[in-house]
Amino acid sequence: MEAMMKRTDYCGTLRATDDGREVVLCGWVMRRRDHGGLIFIDLRDREGIVQVVFDPTIDAETFALAEAARNEYVLNVRGKVRRRLDGADNPNLATGEIEVLCHKMIILNKSKTPPFYIEDGVAVDEMLRLRYRYLDLRRPEMQDALRLRHKVTIAMRHFLDKEGFYEIETPILCKSSPEGARDYLVPSRVHPGSFYALPQSPQLFKQILMVAGTDRYFQLARCFRDEDLRADRQPEFTQLDMEMSFMAEEDIRELCERMLQYIFKETLNIDVAIPFPILTWHEAMSRFGSDKPDLRFGMELVDIADICRESEFTTFAAVAQKGGWVRGINAKGCGKYSRRTMDDLKDFVGIYGAKGLAYIMVEENGLKSPIAKFFTEEQLQAICQRMQAEPGDMLMFVAADMPICADALGHLRCEIAKREGLIDENEFNFLWVIDFPMMEWDTDEKRWKAVHHPFTAPKDEDIPILMEHPDQARAKAYDCVLNGCELGGGSIRIHQRDVQEKIFSLLSLSPEESREKFGYLLDAFEYGTPPHGGIAFGLDRMVMLMGNKESIRDVIAFPKTQSATDMMTQAPSPVDIKQLLELHINTISKEKKK
Ligand code: AMO
Ligand code: AMP
Repeated sequence: MEAMMKRTDYCGTLRATDDGREVVLCGWVMRRRDHGGLIFIDLRDREGIVQVVFDPTIDAETFALAEAARNEYVLNVRGKVRRRLDGADNPNLATGEIEVLCHKMIILNKSKTPPFYIEDGVAVDEMLRLRYRYLDLRRPEMQDALRLRHKVTIAMRHFLDKEGFYEIETPILCKSSPEGARDYLVPSRVHPGSFYALPQSPQLFKQILMVAGTDRYFQLARCFRDEDLRADRQPEFTQLDMEMSFMAEEDIRELCERMLQYIFKETLNIDVAIPFPILTWHEAMSRFGSDKPDLRFGMELVDIADICRESEFTTFAAVAQKGGWVRGINAKGCGKYSRRTMDDLKDFVGIYGAKGLAYIMVEENGLKSPIAKFFTEEQLQAICQRMQAEPGDMLMFVAADMPICADALGHLRCEIAKREGLIDENEFNFLWVIDFPMMEWDTDEKRWKAVHHPFTAPKDEDIPILMEHPDQARAKAYDCVLNGCELGGGSIRIHQRDVQEKIFSLLSLSPEESREKFGYLLDAFEYGTPPHGGIAFGLDRMVMLMGNKESIRDVIAFPKTQSATDMMTQAPSPVDIKQLLELHINTISKEKKK
């Protein structure tokens, strides 16, 4: 075989200014066309596509090779860049003004016919894409996503290095901890019956690093959570994990804002305005029904409980009287929605637990609504006035306990904005949500659970009510929200042993259990722990939003499916019985043994 010619350029980077240059390229055949004695091959590499022209009068042998080339063959071509003929420019291609006239070509490797076209915008089943991920990743938009992700992580490292952060790795084989999502467990061979857990986050290690005097830490940390998957969740994902000593909440947020501003400028050349707006958790829930509200559009929730309390509409009156929420949104200009659409929307809010969706159509000559008959003229007027109703609007209402009503209307608001095209896809809308409650009641387990995590400090002024009203005490916690997605979350931590023990007891952890699970942290707290706090950003989510993708799977090289399998390697998979025996694991059920 002939020796490969040394590459001088990437296909995708050639421009009109390269006119006349001799270049050597390496790439894959994306398309081959025979045209009246000439052959055109679109050659693709990581950076893009360029048109290569083969002329039989230049070199017959090379021309014959070009005739034999098929899609995804790997080629090595030498040629001269030239301007395309007048009228032959392709404005859709970055290299569209030029082509490369080939003098010599080597076929470096052949390819079977791929199972799908390796092109952007073709409808291919995602399972097939994941199975042949190496082909899927050849597509330009996937290469763009990988490049963006790389640039984002480089920008993070750059910024944090300049700010005095150390990048430090923490263990992957960890101790299982009971809070949070389900752990992935790893059996120990040398300690029969004992297990490591894969880290859900490096939370305690980074806190211990603060006790160790490291002062400023970050890590691009792999995290593992065995939880139900969605479009923005993966069982293993990456966090930009950070921790700082001697910093107040505001200082941490300010540093993060500057970092995000830097990342967006460096990678997308987009100017992000700082400081970000701040909403308290209470305000966010009350106005938008969500702790991660999308502020790219309005349609705020309107409270009509007081009007309904005295009404004849017993469903609403009952909820209002027992302190639940009766709220609505004004879907501007949606008065045209059909009964069928309203039924769909009723099913939609049903997903979040709402028992129904009441509505009022505002028309030029009055109101049309199945529930209007239950209200007096004054009550209807008061509702319309409060919701700033105008002819053509559709008012929609949910009555339920606060968490259900908020969730239902919070999602409905986004659904309608999506349907009505109210969202500017090019906008990056950041905000902070602060002052989360410390605890929420877990109705299944009948105990308090930490809203953020058990290491989050309460607001100093709320410490007195902590034991009596853990849901009313606020935490020094903050979430960074981008376009309605939780991009990051963090808090100031507890750094005194007695406060930490108090929180553990609130979470129904006995002193023995807390010692067994977190003894090392409690011990560390007795050796001069600095006040500290931090945050973790979801790297996958960040790149997904920056790259305008629907799913985080599109910004992860080798993601898992909704059922946590890797389609390419077929993990998880059964293992050899010998491996199991070494690990002291018996997967044969008792039934079978008999
Ligand atoms: P938290 O659990 O809020 O905080 O996670 C921080 C951020 O990580 C991202 N994230 C995920 N991304 C993809 N798939 C998942 N399954 C997933 N789960 C979370 C989100 C989220 O905002 N140790 C704390 C942080 C701290 O207190 O410093 C923590 O892990 O973008
Ligand atoms: P009903 O009296 O149950 O037939 O309900 C009349 C209308 O109110 C229907 O459109 C229901 O969808 C709606 N509705 C019933 N319960 C609720 C609720 N909890 N919240 C909002 N709308 C409701």
